[in-house]
Amino acid sequence: MSLVLDIQGVSVRRGRKHLLDDVTWTVGEDERWVVLGPNGAGKTTLLQIAAARLHPTQGQVGILDERLGAVDVFELRPRIGLCSNALASTMPTREKALDMVVTAAYGVTGRWREEYERLDERRAFELLNTWGVGTVFDRPFATLSEGERKRVQIARALMTDPELLLLDEPGAGLDLAGRESLVHRTAELVASEDAPTTVLVTHHLEEIPPGFTHVLLLRDGRSVAQGSIDEVLTSENLSTTFDMPLELHTRNGRFSAFAASR
Ligand SMILES: Nc1ncnc2c1ncn2[C@@H]1O[C@H](COP(=O)(O)OP(=O)(O)OP(=O)(O)O)[C@@H](O)[C@H]1O
Ligand SMILES: [Mg+2]
Repeated sequence: MSLVLDIQGVSVRRGRKHLLDDVTWTVGEDERWVVLGPNGAGKTTLLQIAAARLHPTQGQVGILDERLGAVDVFELRPRIGLCSNALASTMPTREKALDMVVTAAYGVTGRWREEYERLDERRAFELLNTWGVGTVFDRPFATLSEGERKRVQIARALMTDPELLLLDEPGAGLDLAGRESLVHRTAELVASEDAPTTVLVTHHLEEIPPGFTHVLLLRDGRSVAQGSIDEVLTSENLSTTFDMPLELHTRNGRFSAFAASR
């Protein structure tokens, strides 16, 4: 099996704090991972590393058969789709939704710029439509609702047809219908034949789309448990991860959890 992510003994330190502490984690091509853990567990930090946007203080990182530190990250990044608030906050707020998506393609296209621009725009528009936000294509990003912004960000992450898709809390701020349609679309995406290897960070078990195969549980920068969702997503492991007695419920391939009744 070819590894899309090969993270070995990775630590990230800032001052005396360990944001990540000796994390080892591998992601295979056909796997779809969920990363769960409380606020401050290190999920975003781990995704920044997987997106080749942060180097660890210690450890080895392999991404798409390249080694972080030995590869030109500007060549690697277009192969990775990242949807994250950290990234969205660096976007110019007056940028139109369509441009937000189109610009993801810059850097991977060069010659025949004009021809590419038309093709890029068409692809960007199709992606906005697929994610239900085609109608806001000419609106400035800053004027979009939280849910609309999330969908535009996902369209942007998919623009370069990435081999690895990293979604950091794509459901945050969505209403119930918005969440359900996101779950449905993500499930469709990961089920498609040419789907990228996908990693989804979330706080809410309801946001795990059917079809996700593996889970990584993080707490205080360390891996509590990881492996196939059937084996690892248990009441016991969730309780350890969130430091609270929790009860896991499963129904039709969906999950939820509540504080355990005493
Ligand atoms: N530059 C920094 N210096 C010190 N601590 C930092 C720095 N950057 C992040 N942290 C801390 O590292 C921890 C991990 O942050 P991270 O954003 O990865 O957590 P997270 O699991 O994504 O949390 P959330 O669920 O709230 O998004 C947090 O406690 C955060 O405050
Ligand atoms: Mg985070």
